[in-house]
Amino acid sequence: MMRDWVAWHDSYDDPASSLATRLALVQGHLAGALTSAPAGPIRLLSLCAGQGRDVLGVLPGHARRDDVTAVLVEADPRNVADARRRVADAGLAGAVEVREADAGLVATFADALPADVLLLCGIFGNVSDSDIHRTAMAAAAMCAASGTVIWTRHRREPDLTPAVRSWFADAGFGEIAFEAAATQTLTGVGVGRRRDTSPVAPRGPGRPAPSAGLPGGRLFTFRDA
Ligand SMILES: C[S@@+](CC[C@H](N)C(=O)[O-])C[C@H]1O[C@@H](n2cnc3c(N)ncnc32)[C@H](O)[C@@H]1O
Repeated sequence: MMRDWVAWHDSYDDPASSLATRLALVQGHLAGALTSAPAGPIRLLSLCAGQGRDVLGVLPGHARRDDVTAVLVEADPRNVADARRRVADAGLAGAVEVREADAGLVATFADALPADVLLLCGIFGNVSDSDIHRTAMAAAAMCAASGTVIWTRHRREPDLTPAVRSWFADAGFGEIAFEAAATQTLTGVGVGRRRDTSPVAPRGPGRPAPSAGLPGGRLFTFRDA
């Protein structure tokens, strides 16, 4: 059955929830990634962005705000509308595009690659292990040199996060952080920085996918799809 991805966001409004803890961790690491990005333009890409609460909770007040252009890819039109409202309210309409599209297909966001900051939050609890592996392995090719990936995955048994961390390492990311709130098994946040040896997707508008290191087929499919 199709999950209600609008209602899913309600837990964010309860500060005691695992999801609120996770959001704070993601926002903190996102703020840090923007701060430490090299001087100049920063390209941010968020797949399955939902209402964009991570990005839009950080960007409006961040010192690098004017350097950032962001693409938020989200399939649910109600979440797209919500995120677009948040973008407009923050005065970021020229800088943040909320794209209603299937983020499982590289072609829908290929023009936004390579990303300096890539958010893969709220995906890995909803897709198969092989989809997670494929996405982690493709992530380096989606990131610019020294680009940062921020990902999440719950730690319910059997806890897959040790494997996911090793997949990102295999893909060419050095681990910056892994956060797991001890009492909250929903919370697992990984942060990696791309090492310089991995292939990078070439820059440029209108470039068709796939490019080096990116799979031609789907990255992932949500179980409820
Ligand atoms: C668990 S929520 C995470 C939202 C957001 N990233 C966050 O962490 O707050 C997953 C989101 O992915 C969206 N989604 C599911 N399948 C998708 C797909 N193939 N392409 C784009 N978005 C998708 C859902 O509509 C939902 O908003």
